[in-house]
Amino acid sequence: MIAPWAQIDLAALDRNVRAMRAALGPRTSIVMVVKANAYGHGLTPVARQAARSGVRWFAVAYLHEALHVRAVCEDAEVVILGAAMPEDVRTLIEHRLTPIMVDEEHGRALASAARARGAVLRAHLKIDTGMGRFGVPWTQAVSAYERLARESGLEISGLCTHFASVEPRKPSLGPTQMERFREIDAAIAHRAATPLFRHVSSSRAFLTQPDWDLDGVRPGIAAYGYGARERGMRVETEPLLQWRTGVMQVKRVPADFAVGYYSTYVTPAPTTLATLAVGYADGYSRALSNKGFVLIGGKRCAVVGRVSMNWITADCGPDADVAPGDEAVLIGAQSGESIWADELARLARTIPYEILTNIHASVERHYISSPSLPIL
Ligand SMILES: Cc1ncc(COP(=O)(O)O)c(C=O)c1O
Repeated sequence: MIAPWAQIDLAALDRNVRAMRAALGPRTSIVMVVKANAYGHGLTPVARQAARSGVRWFAVAYLHEALHVRAVCEDAEVVILGAAMPEDVRTLIEHRLTPIMVDEEHGRALASAARARGAVLRAHLKIDTGMGRFGVPWTQAVSAYERLARESGLEISGLCTHFASVEPRKPSLGPTQMERFREIDAAIAHRAATPLFRHVSSSRAFLTQPDWDLDGVRPGIAAYGYGARERGMRVETEPLLQWRTGVMQVKRVPADFAVGYYSTYVTPAPTTLATLAVGYADGYSRALSNKGFVLIGGKRCAVVGRVSMNWITADCGPDADVAPGDEAVLIGAQSGESIWADELARLARTIPYEILTNIHASVERHYISSPSLPIL
């Protein structure tokens, strides 16, 4: 059967984790973000490999993801970035998972659920320093902390925030957010019975602001090989995921041949068209209609016509030596040429995060590992 499939290189993940680890001081942990199915790479194999590569902290969006991490990593610390539900407190405690309190009311509801079970729940407090999403507003953070710290059933073990923007060479909100966080941290520090685990930096801040490392950094996209190839970044990481499919049909066509729904592409000259097994149902963005490229036989071929549900058409040129069953690369490298998710993102006017997380769960993932790594 010809169908799209993804290849994930766990040896590259190992190299990325080690490169990030080497950039950090000994007091800072990597809190690897593995939400959204590890950015499309597959949560279980990625978390397992990351743990083997030395990652001790993971961040997810939901409880079910946290349980997947726990299943492969008995001793990891797992933080849940979304608003965990009070009715899940028993599971949180049983599996030693750490929710993040997204506001004071959420914290109180979690505390009350833990109290009702005669238990104590460890949780981190999120401060909204300017992202405007989750968190206690920074102006109320110290008093909210004091009130929550008095709640029985709750142990506040960490403090965090999330940056709206961090731009090393342009104005951005990041530095102001960091100032706000530092003030709150200083005010809270002498009130806390034990030191809090403080984590603020996602990939962009980790890559560009070493002074903001604190106790943990929360890289996501950098661990998967993106965002770290720009000039001046603190470490370089490499993409793990390649996405491939096969040619289903080949057609030699004359000039003025219309392709796809609404005939949005008409061949300017005789050429060879290849129909490939991938479409928007698999996560290949419709925004790549008449914009994307694929690699066939080591050559870049334009995606022509509209991306449809299950198929796309590539223009391979008049003299192309292409046949049904040939491999086509959607993301990745072939014979020295490459197309990575950041290039596709630019062409589709989006971000590599979306390109990667949109690869449908039904697309088979094949995991490869170098001989020096444990077989998974
Ligand atoms: C709260 C939080 N921290 C960290 C991250 C990781 O961000 P990045 O992939 O840019 O490193 C995310 C990603 O969405 C996030 O929501």
